[in-house]
Amino acid sequence: MFERAAIVRGLGSDEVSVDWERLRAAARAVVANAYAPYSRVHVGAAGLVDDGRVVVGCNVENASYGLSLCAECGVASALHAGGGGRLVALSVVAGDGDFLAPCGRCRQILWEVGGPELLVDAGGEPVRLATLLPGAFGPSDLVTRAEGD
Ligand code: THU
Repeated sequence: MFERAAIVRGLGSDEVSVDWERLRAAARAVVANAYAPYSRVHVGAAGLVDDGRVVVGCNVENASYGLSLCAECGVASALHAGGGGRLVALSVVAGDGDFLAPCGRCRQILWEVGGPELLVDAGGEPVRLATLLPGAFGPSDLVTRAEGD
């Protein structure tokens, strides 16, 4: 559906050049497919993968309310369904096209697929996921805290 984007890396792993307008456009395109009859808050998300793929997702609500899926869940699923990889940048928008801050649960889900370095659209300067989820629990905690091995 989407072309691969060029990822430009400098010497430091934190130097990634992201075409934010392109990422936002992908999020705005998929927001049209959101299924949100209950909240009527339509959300679209687009993530740039470390191999240049752009993966997208939209929120999918449920009559039980609590089982509703956020747009970022769709991104995580599309990432793996498309072959895996690591998210390097993410843009989430609402129906008005403006950025929307990922909810707390989604920050944890994003931690798994993008880690602390993930760049998140914040309307102006992008922020690292580590800033949005300080002191996070993650995969490394399972390695260091598991007993009986
Ligand atoms: N929503 C998302 O898709 N992502 C977020 O990070 C915040 C909230 C959705 C869930 C629900 O369908 C609607 O927005 C209102 O909460």
